[in-house]
This record gives sequence, structure tokens and C-alpha cells, in this order.
Amino acid sequence: MTPPPDVYNLIKTKRAVRRFSQQPISDDIARTILNAGRLSGSAKNTQPWHFVAIRQHDTLQALSQCGAYASHLAGAAMAVALVTEDPFERLTVPFDLGRATQNMMLTAWSHGIGSVMATIYQSAKAAAIIKAPASYALPWCVSFGYPAEPRSGPPRRGGRRPADDVIHWESW
Ligand SMILES: Cc1cc2nc3c(=O)[nH]c(=O)nc-3n(C[C@H](O)[C@H](O)[C@H](O)COP(=O)(O)O)c2cc1C
Repeated sequence: MTPPPDVYNLIKTKRAVRRFSQQPISDDIARTILNAGRLSGSAKNTQPWHFVAIRQHDTLQALSQCGAYASHLAGAAMAVALVTEDPFERLTVPFDLGRATQNMMLTAWSHGIGSVMATIYQSAKAAAIIKAPASYALPWCVSFGYPAEPRSGPPRRGGRRPADDVIHWESW
């Protein structure tokens, strides 16, 4: 499925993709995805990130062992490791990483590329795998790739809470 191009429709149709086809992501599109992260706004413009793009299967396989729910990394066409000095030093750091991640994911989806996060519980081990400096952490990775098979019909699980449940006007 080629998603419709406007941002709201990209948001509405984007779901987590954990199974990927063998189709590689071109260098041009990979750069566009990475730049969508790089160009993101952040608290006080601190830009508390490095983005390490990984396409080598051995590295993806090794990273997939660094989180309880990270196995999808092994089958990704590309993963982006989010590398930061101290993810929990300031409340704004995870927020900033989330903004950059969502921008990369939506940009990828605008090219028909699916994605999903992986929480990296063994951050130090993962940082060593990608040869990040010892003072850096790797709290999350993002898997990217063309979906293994197009979704037919609505997703089996998930969905979102109804608007009346979560959106409030003027007061709770
Ligand atoms: C901070 C964060 C961490 C996540 N960690 C993982 C993870 O370790 N493994 C995984 O498969 N999905 C992970 N996810 C993806 C969520 O499970 C997914 O966004 C959620 O289930 C909604 O999926 P949907 O868009 O298909 O409904 C993570 C998402 C976020 C925002």
C-alpha cells in the first residue's frame, strides 16, 4: 500500500511494522529519513542526539539481542540507533528523541517504508556493538524496512482510545 501523502493521513495509517521484506532502502531515501531526524526541533535547540544508521546484518542481529522485544531489528533493512549522552539527565531528552523518531518514521512511511521502535535494555552492550564512545547511551533503536506483506483490513490489535476519552476542551 502506498500511503496518501498528507501528514494527517500518514499519522492515521502508520502502524508498527515488525516484519520486513528483503527490499533494500536506497541511499537517497535513507539519507532523507536520517535528515528528518536531524532537522527536528528540540528543547533549547540542544539536539541531544547522534543517529547511527545500520544496514549490516551481523550488527542488526547483535543489536536484536539487546532488548526483550528487539528481535525485529534482525530483519530490518536499516536500523537507526538513537545515541545520546544521558537519556534521563533531563526530562526533555526522551521527548526530543521521540520527536526526532516520529519525524523519521513518518518520513519513512511517506516512502512506503514501515518502522517500529526497540527499547534497548542493555544500552552499554549495544553502544559497544556500534562503537559509540563509552560515555554515550543507546536507549532506543528504530527498525525500518518495506513491510513484508501489505496489511489487509484493520489491524488485529491496537487501535486508539476514542477522542471523547482523551481530548478535553478548556478543562478536564
Ligand atoms: C518508547 C517506545 C518504546 C517501544 N519499544 C518497543 C520494543 O521494544 N519492541 C517493539 O516491538 N515495539 C516497541 N514499541 C512500539 C509500540 O509497541 C507501538 O508503538 C504500539 O504498540 C502501537 O503500535 P501500533 O501503531 O501498531 O498500534 C515502542 C514504542 C515506543 C513509543
